[in-house]
This record gives sequence, structure tokens and C-alpha cells, in this order.
Amino acid sequence: MARIPKELVDHIIQTADIVEVVGDFVQLKRKGQNLWAPCPFHNEKSPSFSVNPAKSLYKCFGCGKAGGVVQFVMDVEGTSYVEALKYLAKKYAIEIQEEEKTPQQQLEQNERDSQFIVSDFAKNHYHRLLLNSEEGMSIGYGYLKERGLNLSTIQTFELGYSLDSWDDLMKAAETAGFDKKYLEKTGLTVIRTDDQGKDTGRRYDRFRGRVMFPIHNISGRVVGFGARTLKRDDKMAKYLNSPESEIYHKSDVLYGLFQARQAIRTQEVCYLVEGYLDVLSLYQGGIKNVVASSGTSLTEGQIRLIKRYSDNVTVLYDGDAAGIKASLRGTDLLLEGGLNVRVVLFPDGDDPDSYIRKVGDQRFTEYIETKSQDFITFKTTLVAREASGDPVKKAEAIRDVLHSIAKVPDAIKRQVFLQQTSATFGIDEQVLITEYNKLVKSPSQQTKLSGQGDNRGNYGSGAGSANTGYPPSSNPRSAPATRPMSDEEEAEMLMYGGAEAAESLGNSFTSAPKKAAEEEEIPDMLQVCEREVLRLLVLYAGREIEPEMSVAGYLMGQLGEYPLQKPLYAEMWEICRQELLAGRFPDARLLAQNEREDIRQLITDLATERYEISPNWRTKEIYVFNEVDLPQLACDNAVLRLNKVHVQRELDQCLERLRHPLEDAEMFEILGDIKRLKELDNELAALLGTVVARGT
Ligand code: CTP
Ligand code: MN
Repeated sequence: MARIPKELVDHIIQTADIVEVVGDFVQLKRKGQNLWAPCPFHNEKSPSFSVNPAKSLYKCFGCGKAGGVVQFVMDVEGTSYVEALKYLAKKYAIEIQEEEKTPQQQLEQNERDSQFIVSDFAKNHYHRLLLNSEEGMSIGYGYLKERGLNLSTIQTFELGYSLDSWDDLMKAAETAGFDKKYLEKTGLTVIRTDDQGKDTGRRYDRFRGRVMFPIHNISGRVVGFGARTLKRDDKMAKYLNSPESEIYHKSDVLYGLFQARQAIRTQEVCYLVEGYLDVLSLYQGGIKNVVASSGTSLTEGQIRLIKRYSDNVTVLYDGDAAGIKASLRGTDLLLEGGLNVRVVLFPDGDDPDSYIRKVGDQRFTEYIETKSQDFITFKTTLVAREASGDPVKKAEAIRDVLHSIAKVPDAIKRQVFLQQTSATFGIDEQVLITEYNKLVKSPSQQTKLSGQGDNRGNYGSGAGSANTGYPPSSNPRSAPATRPMSDEEEAEMLMYGGAEAAESLGNSFTSAPKKAAEEEEIPDMLQVCEREVLRLLVLYAGREIEPEMSVAGYLMGQLGEYPLQKPLYAEMWEICRQELLAGRFPDARLLAQNEREDIRQLITDLATERYEISPNWRTKEIYVFNEVDLPQLACDNAVLRLNKVHVQRELDQCLERLRHPLEDAEMFEILGDIKRLKELDNELAALLGTVVARGT
């Protein structure tokens, strides 16, 4: 790694203007001495992110991120210190002498630069033709308009058109003074060979009469092109793509990532689609966190790219069976990469592009939100349906699913998936676990998994767990007290007993939460708060928050018997209540085997949600409770929030009634109610404040 001398570092930092640098990523507005914007690191509408030009510092009062100009680039780009410095140096045209470069490397560097420059030239040329030439406007632009794309989208993605000519680009490049060897190296021109494969010396443009989709790398440089024909000719490939070159490695590029990366960060999820047009349609519909694998199967390099921006991927599959089958393999790779994978299936015959155009932005967004399924659940149901009635196929299908489960790095999720699979296939869980253990023990699987940490152990079938099928306490994962526990281990302790061990964990609170949702962006505050209460009940029912008082008892005592309104949550609550009445604590493991699919799914979701943050309810200060150490605080917090939402709703109703004509008596009654509710609201806010303060 190249070291940058200290003087040069200082020079870069002094030259870089924090207002300019930040301004590349958000729109800053001056208010007093500082400039303000919606935070680029978390999702919000009202600005709580500020830049102080005098001190050259930024700080977000919502999520707590703060630092200087280099730190900003590191945070926003997800890069290392050195890369951040290089980014700044490039922005301010400061030369960084990279030490010890061989002449060969120098040459390669220049070669690469030249290829970038010629690609950029071609992109501009095609773009100009699309918007300014007669052929481009009538054929290319006409086509894009017909596909529903507007000028702004065309400009954001720098779309273009190549004339139906053998040498238009070549001529233009020559006039501009480019050495034609760079056109060849980037594949913009094709070398004509004779029958023996010998260079005839003749050249022609690769892309002719096509709509051009420039492919950008993550810093926005054009590295290659996808090109769609507009002719209805079966013999002609619909898409022609740039060949691999020194600057274009297909396996390390995702179409749309340059335009999507900010949104992927703030939305905390990356939508993965297949085609260029899927990306463009969704982006134009306001769903900007979308990238395409461009028809090829996903590679590890592409997965690493996604992971720089988010741990969550939602794959949007076309509705046809062949497509799904083909994509399943790539999706396993996503799991292996440690990503949380969800899946949305579109109706048969629709792809994301056609579907969003059919139903509109709003309904499309709702569709993805409500129809997305955890990948393993999705795959399990899919293969189970296919294999039904055929025992041989069924065994194969089960093994197939177990392979996928083994790739999930999170232990707690693997547990839940195993139960789900056993329920879906109607296979005894012990049998399944034995099968699973055989599989992870087999040498091929072992070597594959060993690179990804040691937490993918077998699930015990020994004495300690004979009746439960869960890891015995002597499991190597929890044994050595000296090694700090991983998140999964901590959660596992929590769900499957071993409270003493969990108790010994320090670090009660952590500021700078991962997710801080702005209240106005949460569609239904009531549901969010209900879910949080339910989550605590399901995951921690039996935990004692004080002697003789369990989490379940406490929550029921505070909230009454039927506190939840959303039907599914209310049902879940009732199931738990019945368990308590029968003298048992609700047990997530058992619930995960419930015969009902929606209940099972809810349990899976609740069990894997544990590190997400409670809603940011009318306060900028947010804390993530360490629920393991402080279940009481977590419960208090959740109960107060739920109560507060109810009060708030009643208040809103009162205010709404005031807007209509009223008798005096009625009006005074309402005003009285409002006063009482406001006091209650303040009281709850104060209590919530104490809950937070107690932890700080
Ligand atoms: N693709 C390709 N070569 C082909 C066909 C497809 O490289 N001959 C890639 C392209 O990246 C394309 C993606 O596979 O975007 C998905 O293919 P498809 O769904 O057929 O294309 P769309 O982009 O959806 O285009 P259209 O809707 O215009 O058919
Ligand atoms: Mn399409």
C-alpha cells in the first residue's frame, strides 16, 4: 500500500473545503454559522446534519456521526483512510507521488487513464447523438420515451445512441485526436480478421444503431457499455456489451451502483434486478437503491461491492419459473457473502420494469414491502412444492435447502430456518439436524465454510440437548470465557438460556444507532410500537426483570390482556397469553414451528430483528438498549412508547373533531380532553426521558 507523506496529507486536508466535499453528496443550506442538510448517513427528511466551515467539521445530531473532511469521505464512500485521501487529492488536482512504481506500472497506469478518457469521450459522443442528431432523436430517444423514460433519467444515467454507421465513432475519435489503439483496447471498435484469424488492418464500430447504456464504476467513470438493438431481428442479439478490458471487469461491476449507492446506504437495502431497464424504471419511480447484475449470474466481486453499502439485499425475481431456478444459485452466493437476503417474486410474465409501469410507483413499493420473503423460507416453500409426492425428489430438495442454510453466517437464523424446514417438509427435527450435521461435516463443505469464521458448527444431538435439538451448553462456541462473544452468540445465549453468561457482557448502551427512522417516514407508528412490545414478549418472555417478575408477566401487567390492534400481532399475543395461562413461557423455538405460515414468518422476523432500533419517537436522542443486560429498560421503553402513540392518536382525533362545527358544550368537553391528553403526553415524554437518562 502506498504511503502518503505527512506533509502531503496536511496539504490535502488544508486544501479540501469541507463545504465543497460534503456538497457533492448532499444539498447544504446555510442557517447561521453552519450549513445544514438531511443526513447522508441515516434516513431523514428534516436536516439534522450540520457542517461547520470554520472548524472544518461535520456532525449529525440525529445519528451522532461526526468528524473532519477525511472522515467524511471515509464514512460516505466506505473507503479506507488512504483511499479517502486519494479521493480528495483527485478532487483538488493534487498529485500524489506513488512511490516505487516500475516503468511497466507507470505505463499501465497511463494505459488505464487513456482507456478511461476514450470511454468518457464515447459516452459523451453517444449522449450527444441521442439528444441532438436527427437519427438519435427519432429512433433512440423515441424508443426510450416509448419505454416511459424521461429526460432526467436519461441524463442521470447518461444514456446515448450509436448511429447506424460503420465508422461514426471512429471518425469522431480520430478528429478529436485519439490514438485508435485505445478504441480497440476498450472494444469500441472491432478488429476485422480474415478466415485464418489474421488482422486485415480494417476496423469498424462495435456499436451501431443501438441505444447505449454506459456502465460506470463506483467513482462514476465509464468503463464499458451495454447496447440494445431497436430492430426486430431475431438473428441479432438484443444486447451487445463491451468486452472485458483493462478497465472493465464484468465481475466487479454492478449496473446502476454509482447512481444508487447513496440511496442504498440510507435505505439500508439494495434491490437487485436483472436488466438495465429494470434499474432505470425503478430509479425513475423513486426507488433509487437498485442495481442490476446485467443478466449474468452474480459474482463474489459484485457481492463484495454491495456489502460496502449495505448488509441487506432484496432480489427482485421475474415471475417465470426458469428464471427463478437460474437465480437460486446466485442467491446462495449472497448468503455466503453474509448478506441478509430477501426475495420478491413478481406475477408470472412480469419483470420489475413491466410491473412498475403497470401498477405505478406507489403500489409497486407496497408490493415489494409486503411481498418480500426471507430467502430460505422462499426456497423451502418452492422446492417443497415441487417435490411433493416424490420421496426421492423430496430428499434431494431437503439437502438442497440444508446447503443454503449452512451458508447463513448468523447462528440464530440458522436455528430458526432448521425448524421452519422441518415444519415445511414435515420431517422430524432431530432427523433434519442429523442430516445437517452430516452435511457440514463433509469435507467439501468444511473447507468451504472454514474461511468464514468458526461459528458455523453442528447442532448438537448429544446428551445436553437430546430433547431439544439445540446447542448444549458445552458447545465450543460458548465455552471459552476469554474470547468476546459475537453478536450471534450473544443472541443465542439470550434465546436459548445461559443468562448468566450473557449477564457478564458489558457495554449497556450504544449511541449512533444503525437505523434512525424519522417519524414522518414511518407509515404506522402504532404498528411499529406494537411490534416492539411483541418482539420483547416473544424473545424474552421468561427472563426475570426483578425477582418473581418475568418479562411476560411485566408486559401483561402493564398493558392488559388485549393491548394490540393489528390482527396478526393480536393473535400472536393471544397465543403467548394462552401459553402463560397454561403455566409455560412462550418459547420462540416452539412458536417457530406453528402450523400457520404467517405466524412462523413473524417469529423468524422478530427473532432476527433484535438489533434494530426502537422508533425515534419525538426525540432526537436514540439509544439502543442492550436487552440482554437491561430487559426492564427495554420493556419500559416499549410500553411507554406504545402508550404514547395511543395518547397521540386520541389527541389527533380530538383536534380533528374541533375542525368541524360544534355546540359550545361539546367543544369545551373536547378542549378539556385535549388538556388532559396533553398532560398525559408530557408525562409520558418525561418518563421516556428518564428511561433514556437512566441508561446514559
Ligand atoms: N442481456 C445481455 N445480452 C442479451 C440479453 C440480455 O447482456 N442478449 C443482459 C442485459 O444486461 C439485460 C439483462 O440481461 O439488461 C436482462 O435481460 P432482459 O430482461 O431480456 O432485458 P431488459 O433489460 O429487461 O430489456 P427489455 O425490457 O428491453 O427487453
Ligand atoms: Mn425487460
